[in-house]
Amino acid sequence: ETIDLEGKILLPGLIDAHVHMRDPGLTYKEDWKTGSRAAASGGFTTVLDMPNTNPTTTTAGRFREKLQIAGSKSVVDFGLHAGVENLDEIPKIAELCPSSFKIFADLVDNGFLMEAFHEVSKLKDSSLTQEQESNECHFKPLISIHCEDGSITGHCTDRLKSEGVLDSKVYSRARPPLAEEVSVSNAVTMAEHFNVPVHICHVSTRKALEIIKRAELAGCPVTCEGTPHHLLLDASSFEAFGTFAKTNPPLRDETDKIMVSDLDMIDVVGTDHAPHELLEKGRDVWNAPPGIPGLETALPLLLTQINQKKLSFERLIQLLAENPARIFNIPNKGFLKEGMDADFVVVDMNKEGVVEPENFQSKAEYTPFEGYKVKGMPVMTVVRGNVVMDEGGIFENMGKFIHI
Ligand code: DOR
Ligand code: ZN
Ligand code: ZN
Ligand code: ZN
Repeated sequence: ETIDLEGKILLPGLIDAHVHMRDPGLTYKEDWKTGSRAAASGGFTTVLDMPNTNPTTTTAGRFREKLQIAGSKSVVDFGLHAGVENLDEIPKIAELCPSSFKIFADLVDNGFLMEAFHEVSKLKDSSLTQEQESNECHFKPLISIHCEDGSITGHCTDRLKSEGVLDSKVYSRARPPLAEEVSVSNAVTMAEHFNVPVHICHVSTRKALEIIKRAELAGCPVTCEGTPHHLLLDASSFEAFGTFAKTNPPLRDETDKIMVSDLDMIDVVGTDHAPHELLEKGRDVWNAPPGIPGLETALPLLLTQINQKKLSFERLIQLLAENPARIFNIPNKGFLKEGMDADFVVVDMNKEGVVEPENFQSKAEYTPFEGYKVKGMPVMTVVRGNVVMDEGGIFENMGKFIHI
């Protein structure tokens, strides 16, 4: 069977290296079925899930459990980031060869971070164990990190709460740019010291990006991610969207934020698809959970940037396919060439639309991009030769676990 492209454009299947599918334990927000359908709808053929589910993916047993759950529900292929909570579990979970150990720097101190880098450096320098050999994985561990300094965010949050500040932008001040810059500096210093690759998730400020670039030029093994919301929105979104715009790190002021023109300094665009329930998002600014769903808006938003000549297809493919495949060690995906899985997305650069969260496959029915006009949309998604999305319709498919 051949696929008639009728003047549309074929891209490699996109890889989202940063999603929160919420399954197990938080399935009222999202589950592997709805989240993976959102991925298919948005042109993503592979997603890498974050470990802050319930329970957290921080032991070998829980890692195996999650891959069973995802394997029974996901319509797209998937990999899992391992979480780090108990340092003794690092070598045990390493038997399953997750490439990425995710750390929430806002939740741990520098002593813990140091020990985690040390543990991962030992794994990196030792030869493969028998179990790792039998898993046929190429084990190249790295640390992925949510870079906000918890002592600064804690201090600023307490002060603003005690002052009773409740203006719409207060959340941006509770987790200021400095919290990110200090944390990024720590992370690159440790990566260089231990010679362990570090991947900085969702960089939100230009200054943090400059710290990363300086470290990279000095030989530090660092890569970084930007999200569509940090690139395209700013703190003024709080006025129109309130807690729907609440995310960590927060949306920044125009003067601090990263922009689409900064994408030449960024390695990966990840969505940080972080769905929550409307009811919880309806709480006040301090109590609503942070997070924005991104799987169904990322590609239309970026194709719109291409139509506006602010981004090239070549760069888009690097950011959403080639670079995540390289950084997270996914050998058969990310490139349109022989030997790769038949993962594709077909896009129609003339198709126009308006972002409308009611139409999401995701359980999360909100977005600070609501009403945004887009030109350029995915019209077909193919995972290993199987059509999983055609003109918005989703088809059943057995997503496969990918050793990352
Ligand atoms: O906004 C966020 N939401 N940032 C995070 O780091 C976690 C995420 C979530 O899990 O909701
Ligand atoms: Zn994060
Ligand atoms: Zn780089
Ligand atoms: Zn996240």
